[in-house]
Amino acid sequence: MVQTVCVECGGPLLARYDFEREGWPSLDVVLARPAGQFRFHEVQPTDAGAKTPTLGEGATPLLAAPGVSPNLYVKDEAQNPTGSFKARGMASAMARAVELGLTRFALPSNGNAGGAAAAYGAMYEVEVEVFVPRATPSGLIAEPEAYGAKVTVVDGTIADAGRLAAEKSADTGVFNMATLREPFRIEGKKMMGYELLWDLGRLPEVVVYPTGGGTGLVGMVKAWDEMEALGWIGSERPRMVAVQWEGCAPIVKAFHEGADHAEPWVDPGTTAAYGLRVPSALGDRLMLSGLRETDGTAVEVSEKELLDGTRRLAELAGIWGTPEGGACLAAVDQLAASGWVRPGETVVIFNTAAAGKYA
Ligand SMILES: Cc1ncc(COP(=O)(O)O)c(C=O)c1O
Repeated sequence: MVQTVCVECGGPLLARYDFEREGWPSLDVVLARPAGQFRFHEVQPTDAGAKTPTLGEGATPLLAAPGVSPNLYVKDEAQNPTGSFKARGMASAMARAVELGLTRFALPSNGNAGGAAAAYGAMYEVEVEVFVPRATPSGLIAEPEAYGAKVTVVDGTIADAGRLAAEKSADTGVFNMATLREPFRIEGKKMMGYELLWDLGRLPEVVVYPTGGGTGLVGMVKAWDEMEALGWIGSERPRMVAVQWEGCAPIVKAFHEGADHAEPWVDPGTTAAYGLRVPSALGDRLMLSGLRETDGTAVEVSEKELLDGTRRLAELAGIWGTPEGGACLAAVDQLAASGWVRPGETVVIFNTAAAGKYA
């Protein structure tokens, strides 16, 4: 079996680039290239660079939402292939894995990652098996099947699905593509952090992210560190906010208790925000340090609040978002009411997937 986590602590491995060396392209050079996930291919893991095969992921629109609030923007990740931001991570990770000769993959998924892995699996003509919790909506099971992947439905949560994917990997040698168990899905997701600078011409004051396994959150913080190493930005950072559903909020709990890691959440119920039903995450320490380093915070929202946020995004901004996107809007309301988000601050929320997939 290929070892793709730290051999000493079992934690995630992160890709590092030598920003000291000469020859990095300037921001202007990068911006002059065609938009998309591999626009800044020098910070991507593939040998193919700008020629890395793609389904058209990345370069999603950053939409102003003045009907909701004057300084609010929505990064609409629903406009990725397979209708979710999971395409970004799979585009990078599967490209690299295939370059290295891997042909068989397994992963746990609350739905969107499985669909994305299966789509790239179809493009590369490799085998994908997805382990999904029984509560996963039927559309998110039909999607990977349509791409020819095998779907195994598991009793329990994504943690149980993760155990089965890991066992499968250990028993058969298929590569485990679970979140942060390999180092390159995060390289894809971090491009959301680069794109915020490219979209706005500066970084926003606040970024609100619906947090499950945390790859996007950790990835964006990594992107900003890389951008500082490149001299593109200074030490300023958006204040990063992790949003979770109150019925499964291990990161929110750990953050407010001052802990450096999160205890697994026992017995999460069910929510419409499937991507937030993650009782324990391998990236917990990285998420918590990212929140603290950026002077950020963590917020839990109720089911009613996140559904109401979803409805308002549709009615007031024309974005029929996922409940995870609605959760972000609900969190902004809380933070504005408490004064944590100050009037006039630019706030970006993420709509991480297309609502139609959940219908
Ligand atoms: C729609 C949606 N939003 C948010 C998340 C959580 O993303 P992350 O694992 O990067 O925290 C997921 C993960 O499954 C998801 O599917």
